[in-house]
Amino acid sequence: MARVFSGIQPSGELHIGNYLGAVQNWVQLQHQHDCLFCIVDLHAVTQAYEPATLAQRTTDMAIGLLAAGLDPERCIVFVQSHVPEHSELNWLLTIVTPLGELERQTQFKDKAQRQASVPAGLLNYPVLQAADVLLYKATLVPVGEDQLQHLELMREIARRWNGRFGEGFFPQPQAHLSTAKRVLGLDGQVKMSKSLGNTISLFDTPDTIWEKLRPAATDPARKTRKDPGTPQLCNVFTIHQGFSPPETQAHVARQCRTAGWGCLDCKRVLADNMIATLTPIRERAQQLQARRVTDVLRAGAAKARALARQTIAEVRQRMGFLAGAEAS
Ligand code: AMP
Ligand code: TRP
Repeated sequence: MARVFSGIQPSGELHIGNYLGAVQNWVQLQHQHDCLFCIVDLHAVTQAYEPATLAQRTTDMAIGLLAAGLDPERCIVFVQSHVPEHSELNWLLTIVTPLGELERQTQFKDKAQRQASVPAGLLNYPVLQAADVLLYKATLVPVGEDQLQHLELMREIARRWNGRFGEGFFPQPQAHLSTAKRVLGLDGQVKMSKSLGNTISLFDTPDTIWEKLRPAATDPARKTRKDPGTPQLCNVFTIHQGFSPPETQAHVARQCRTAGWGCLDCKRVLADNMIATLTPIRERAQQLQARRVTDVLRAGAAKARALARQTIAEVRQRMGFLAGAEAS
């Protein structure tokens, strides 16, 4: 059994990009491995945010994850800021993290570009992410493609720490990608992302799903109904791969390549399959009570913290700190 760790920001909305790129995998992995799934609120505050809504967005994300199929009997679901050891390990890892590597991170450059004043926390973001995973000595990290560079840096940080303080202490975590590792937004231009407003939410109603899917971008080669297309170049096909059974995917691909179907035909089939998957998720979310969610997160943090403390104790010892003031 591998130890699995992944995180998601409390954006307040779980969209089908998160779901197909990551969360759907998490639901599978909890049956085979020892899994921790974390709502990373400390990461979320590295960008402009509204303090008044952070707690609610965190609860909403927890509701989304549980409704999507994470089972607290099978995995640990918790909130990052509830386990202060994340922040401690973050600090201890900064001393082996090369500044140049942080400055080279694509996500940092993208986000920094959009800000007049760049907070140091944004630069440090990948160090905190490394702390998240290494704190539990996790080896498998199910994420979308956008996280690969952060994973590579995480391995570098682990290697450097090990080289200095204890060979073999931290494992080298590997990414675990899904087939839909990069879902584009409905505009077909850039990655689907809440901040870009190009998403379909896991909680959209059937009518909304169809309203959003109908005008969604497809393979640009299909200018008219008669032009054949290439499924691999079509974002709608990527979404089919997440929601439709293999026979349907094969059929849709054939109809696209031969122009047997128009894009609207293809989208109708997809909408039906999406609605079939998402309706039970939406209904489960509506039934989940706030009390139950609080209880799940509290229990999750206690379990995570017990593991985190063991690692931190060893890290402190190997780094040579004076013993005596450990958390009781
Ligand atoms: P975030 O919402 O940025 O915290 O992302 C949570 C998880 O969803 C990460 O593993 C991301 O890689 C994944 N993810 C986010 N957006 C997409 C997307 N458009 N396509 C595929 N995976 C995604
Ligand atoms: N940076 C990730 C994202 O935006 C979220 C994240 C934080 C994460 N810590 C993590 C993902 C640890 C995997 C493992 O999607």
